[in-house]
Amino acid sequence: MEKNSRFGRQQQEQVWQNAEVDALYRLAAAGVRVPQPYNFVEGVLLMELVTDEQGNAAPRLNDLELGREQALEYHGLLIKEVVRMLCAGLVHGDLSEYNILVDASGPVIIDLPQAVDASANNNAARMLERDVDNLADYFGRFAPELLKTEYGKEIWKLYESGELTPQVALTGRFKANNKAADVGSIMREIDDARDEAIRRRYEHED
Ligand SMILES: Nc1ncnc2c1ncn2[C@@H]1O[C@H](COP(=O)(O)OP(=O)(O)OP(=O)(O)O)[C@@H](O)[C@H]1O
Ligand SMILES: [Mg+2]
Repeated sequence: MEKNSRFGRQQQEQVWQNAEVDALYRLAAAGVRVPQPYNFVEGVLLMELVTDEQGNAAPRLNDLELGREQALEYHGLLIKEVVRMLCAGLVHGDLSEYNILVDASGPVIIDLPQAVDASANNNAARMLERDVDNLADYFGRFAPELLKTEYGKEIWKLYESGELTPQVALTGRFKANNKAADVGSIMREIDDARDEAIRRRYEHED
């Protein structure tokens, strides 16, 4: 029993860790800045240590105090990274200032065991939007104009229609389609039909 459950747990860990290794390779190949995986030993994934200029573990984005210009630059870079990731078929799923390190060359994305396959996961759109909103919320503290942007919806729409490429030019604005207006006109038609039916019934009774 115990052996079985331990085996089960190991298997589960392996699947989990393999998902992270898989994501790290796929993303590096797609040009996303992620640590290089080295080895996977007894449930522990060894990877490149991202360092600062002194060779110490790099700070998390959350540990930095940013100026407006720097915030806008990093935000732009990370939106491009999110687009590259999605072009490679993945959504991070837990992207935030805590899972981004900053080395001498800029942001590096970490913590990928929960990355999801964009085309196979029903929650992918929602997760992508949340990842992108997290970036806007964080960088928006230093550059408030970012708080109004809607890159997540814009990126997903392009992805769904097969138009997303790593070079795509984004606006940060999203034009909702007119489904709401359609619903309104359908409701009016229903109302009209009902009024008509009531009128006919009264005519009949008269
Ligand atoms: N490749 C790396 N190079 C340098 N530091 C790293 C690296 N990977 C992780 N770290 C540090 O370890 C912390 C935890 O790593 P990670 O986010 O991958 O694990 P976690 O289990 O999700 O932990 P948490 O719950 O804190 O997010 C990171 O916030 C970062 O400070
Ligand atoms: Mg983490």
